[in-house]
Amino acid sequence: MRLTKKGLWGGIIREFRDFLPEIHDSAVTTLLEGNTPLIETVNLKDVFGDIRMLLKYEGLNPTGSFKDRGMTMAVSKAREEGAGAVICASTGNTSASASAYAARAGMRAYVLVPEGSVAMGKLSQAMMHGALVLQIKGNFDDALNIVKEITKDYPVKMVNSINPYRIEGQKTAAFEICEHLGHAPTYHFLPVGNAGNITAYWRGYREYEKEGIISNLPKMMGFQAEGAAPIVLGHPVENPQTIATAIKIGNPASWDSAVKARDESGGVIDSVTDDEIIEAYRLLASREGVFCEPASAASLAGAMKMKREGVLADGDTVVCTLTGHGLKDPDMAIKASAKPVKVPADVKKILKAMGL
Ligand code: F0G
Repeated sequence: MRLTKKGLWGGIIREFRDFLPEIHDSAVTTLLEGNTPLIETVNLKDVFGDIRMLLKYEGLNPTGSFKDRGMTMAVSKAREEGAGAVICASTGNTSASASAYAARAGMRAYVLVPEGSVAMGKLSQAMMHGALVLQIKGNFDDALNIVKEITKDYPVKMVNSINPYRIEGQKTAAFEICEHLGHAPTYHFLPVGNAGNITAYWRGYREYEKEGIISNLPKMMGFQAEGAAPIVLGHPVENPQTIATAIKIGNPASWDSAVKARDESGGVIDSVTDDEIIEAYRLLASREGVFCEPASAASLAGAMKMKREGVLADGDTVVCTLTGHGLKDPDMAIKASAKPVKVPADVKKILKAMGL
């Protein structure tokens, strides 16, 4: 991994400067995002056999999701252009990230979120960072349409992934994976919502290949939730439904570029059920010690599905991006696990409960 002269990570803009649009140093707004671990699984042999399975744990970014990579770019550029405020529609993570980076830049943040469909951790982040949180009676797609309309006429910078700088920043996760492994994986799995991230990773891999840093390209494997799978169905979904609220999206903004990433790489965009997502979510936390949010587990659920269907083979190197931290959605974690055992403060009774 590249590091600054002092051996300290400088955030993705400074570390990958050669591959990113130029930004004046004084505008760089960073919380030292990026440099997230690529964790090799050790306890999933019964599921994956001799496949090398690695987890790109993006939940360890400063606001707990991969959005920070794109947000450092988008907010820095907005600052360079003299913007005083940013706006986004969000299922939660983009709003948390935009709010934090706007705070850091001394800018106002406006975030539009679907009422009742944003995990508690994410909502609390946007509120704490001082954003104006606008909860709409509508879904993410409605919120995005409103944001598009507002930014046409008002000097507020849109920081959804339609903003090209977001994709530019997010592609750096692919760079890190290549530098870590020394090559690209055979398959790269990730959840697909608004479809910006699959677009960004594919761009990153292709740029590293063009520069001769890697000589192979991965197949891009995107997974939507079954009740919110417009790309799989081939048409927008008016009323998307899934427990994975982060990817509860019926009409992704980067639809075309996601399809391009799939087709150019020879990959797949498919769906997984909520039950499959929860199974993968539990498996990661209970067997590997890695806590991600439900939407993130759609990547592993997708890999499990592809293994069952005989697509993955022994010897393949597979990376699953875990897009957000498990603490983002404590309600779902509590629902998905065994309840705490209530016991009196008494050694004997506690030993009995422990089975000793
Ligand atoms: N995983 C998580 C945890 C997300 O928050 C998102 C998107 C995705 C996956 C899907 O990524 O949109 O690039 O395909 N969250 C957006 C938000 C929509 O508003 O936070 P994508």
